Amino acid sequence: MYEEYLELAVRMAREAGKIHLTYFRGGDLAIRTKSNVSDVVTRADRESEALIVRMIAERFPDHAVLGEEGGTRGDAHGEWLWVVDPLDGTTNYSQGLPVFTVSIALQHRGETVVGVVYAPYLDELYTATLGGGARAGRMEGAQHPIRVSEKRVLGEAVLATGFPYDKVTNPDNNADNLARILPRTRGIRRYGSAAYDLCCVAAGFLDGYWELALHVWDVCAGELIVREAGGAVRSLREDRGVSIVAGNETLIGEMLQYVR
Ligand code: IPD
Ligand code: CA
Ligand code: CA
Repeated sequence: MYEEYLELAVRMAREAGKIHLTYFRGGDLAIRTKSNVSDVVTRADRESEALIVRMIAERFPDHAVLGEEGGTRGDAHGEWLWVVDPLDGTTNYSQGLPVFTVSIALQHRGETVVGVVYAPYLDELYTATLGGGARAGRMEGAQHPIRVSEKRVLGEAVLATGFPYDKVTNPDNNADNLARILPRTRGIRRYGSAAYDLCCVAAGFLDGYWELALHVWDVCAGELIVREAGGAVRSLREDRGVSIVAGNETLIGEMLQYVR
């Protein structure tokens, strides 16, 4: 039902990924800081967002876009809204670390109907359409259905999380959650791309994930991919941006005993 939008989203992810790889581990990143010294942006973030915005405007000139770097273009309350993080995992990217993604979602009247996340260095593509299931594969290869993990015991679970950019000034920085839950799990990972973390939950590579103080562009595509893979994404709290917990229903219940 949403195939033409999915096809465009995958095409945009492929092209954005090419931009990422052009500058990756090179000396020409033009790194600048944003909200503070931890929060960086590179030319790859800016150029990928510009390309995605251009491709949407060419194909669907009446669609609005919300992008991390450029904000809203068009009527964000109109029928169609693309929600774009042109490079999720910029800290990794700027360091030469391999986990970074482009995250593209399409909302129809406020409901997410398409989600695409692509990690170009790893060549891992994750997609979902509302009611159509979630898939993964290589960009140029076959896509196969994915499913969340069925683990029910926290002690056997490998989880991921992240830490907010305002961690220097705000003590509500997830360290308390980590200290409570870490000893009860098999392991905790910090990959550095919220979109990738959610896709790993969708594919069952991670059993669960939580994070505070995210933005809608970090999670919009990944949330649909988790839900379409049979998992759940719940809001953790309302007072710290987009704060979420993801996994299967049972493990989310277990995690909620320790993270808040
Ligand atoms: C960040 C990544 C990171 C998460 C941060 C996000 P960015 O996005 O998703 O994993 O911990 O909170 O802001 O800045 O690299 O697009
Ligand atoms: Ca992001
Ligand atoms: Ca970003």
